[in-house]
Amino acid sequence: MISDIIFTNDSNSFKEIFKQFTDVKSFVLVDENTEKYCLSEIERYLPKGFQLIKIQSGESNKTLNTVAQIWETLSTKGANRKSLLINLGGGVIGDMGGFAASTFKRGIPFINIPTTLLAQVDASVGGKTGFDFMGLKNEIGCFSAPEKVIIYPQFLKSLDKENILSGFAEMIKHALIHDAKHYQKLKTFNIQNTDFDYNELLQLIKQSVSIKKHFVENDPYEKNIRKALNFGHTFGHAFESYFLGTDKELLHGKAVAFGMIFDAVLSNKKCTFPMEKLFDITNFITRLYGKLKFTKEDYEKLFALMQHDKKNEQQQVNFTLLSAIGEVKINQTASKTEIFEAFDYYLHLD
Ligand SMILES: NC(=O)c1ccc[n+]([C@@H]2O[C@H](COP(=O)([O-])OP(=O)(O)OC[C@H]3O[C@@H](n4cnc5c(N)ncnc54)[C@H](O)[C@@H]3O)[C@@H](O)[C@H]2O)c1
Ligand SMILES: [Zn+2]
Repeated sequence: MISDIIFTNDSNSFKEIFKQFTDVKSFVLVDENTEKYCLSEIERYLPKGFQLIKIQSGESNKTLNTVAQIWETLSTKGANRKSLLINLGGGVIGDMGGFAASTFKRGIPFINIPTTLLAQVDASVGGKTGFDFMGLKNEIGCFSAPEKVIIYPQFLKSLDKENILSGFAEMIKHALIHDAKHYQKLKTFNIQNTDFDYNELLQLIKQSVSIKKHFVENDPYEKNIRKALNFGHTFGHAFESYFLGTDKELLHGKAVAFGMIFDAVLSNKKCTFPMEKLFDITNFITRLYGKLKFTKEDYEKLFALMQHDKKNEQQQVNFTLLSAIGEVKINQTASKTEIFEAFDYYLHLD
C-alpha cells in the first residue's frame, strides 16, 4: 500500500523520474485548472506522445460518469496492461484517476502528482481511491497505491488562498495527533502570505506526510490506530454537510479546522487535555480561519448529522481525542450533553 514518494522544488526532477517511462504508452489526467496552471510546467518532461484526458474540475464531477469517460479514453486510445496513467491534479483527480487505473484491465500502474496542498499532505498517502455515488461521498472505491507520488509545492503558486488554508488544516491535524514540535513550527509559518518560503514549506509538507504514513503503515485498513487521522472530522463533517449548498459552504479542511477546536474541548473534558493548550489551539485556528457562525438553534441539527455516522450507538458519538498535543486517544465517545457543552464553549468566546 505504500508508494515511493518524491519531494522536490526543482522541476528538473520530473525529467529524471519519467526517464524510466519513455517507452511506455502514457496518459495524463487533468482538469481545466491543472491543464492551465500545472501541465505547462512539466509537460516537456512527461513521456513523449502522451495522451491527454481532460475532465471537468470539482467534487460535483467526481462521478461514475467521469470515471467511465476516463476508461473510454484509455480503451479507445489503445491503453494496454503496461500503460501508465499520470494523475495531475487535486484530490478529485487523484481519487478518480486512481480508481480508473486500478480497475482498467484489472489494474494498470498510475502515478499521482498532487497539485493542491490537501492532496499533497493527505490524499498522497493511504491508497484510497474512488468516487461519489447516489449523493454519498466516496461511496465506491478501492484501496490501491500509485507507483509513485511526486510532491512539488511550486504548483501551489496558482492555488487560491482558501484551498491553501484547507490543506493546511490537515497539516495542523497531523501535528496535533503526533508531533508537538511540528505544531510549533506550523504556528510560526506564515501560510497567509502566499509568497512562501518554498523550501521551508517543502520540509513542513514532508513532516506532515511522514506522520500520515506512520498511521497508515501501522493500520492500512483503518481497524484501529489509523482512526487517529479522524481528529477534527466528526464535528468537521457535520459542519461541512450542514452548510453545504448555503452561502456559508465550507471547504473540507476549513470544516476540519473548526472541528479540531470542538474535539479539543471534548479532549479537555474527557482526556485531561490541558486548558491552556485548548486556548492555544482555539486562538491559532481562529486567527487563520476566522469564526464559525452558528447559534443554539443549530445544535440539534448538527448533533443529528454527527449521529448519522454508522459507527455510533444511540446517544453516544465516537471521537478521536487528545490527552496532550502529540498524544492521540482513539475510540472515545461523548454524550449529547457533552457535545452541546462544546458548542457552548465556542459560542461564549469573544
Ligand atoms: N484519497 C485520499 O486519501 C483523500 C484524502 C483527502 C481528500 N481526498 C479527496 O480529495 C478531494 C478534495 O481534494 P482537493 O481539495 O485537492 O480538491 P480538488 O481536486 O477539487 O481541487 C480544488 C480546486 O483546485 C483546482 N486546482 C488544483 N490544483 C491547482 C493548482 N495548482 N492551481 C490552481 N488550481 C488548482 C482544481 O481544479 C479544483 O478546482 C475530495 O474529493 C476528497 O474526498 C482523498
Ligand atoms: Zn480530512
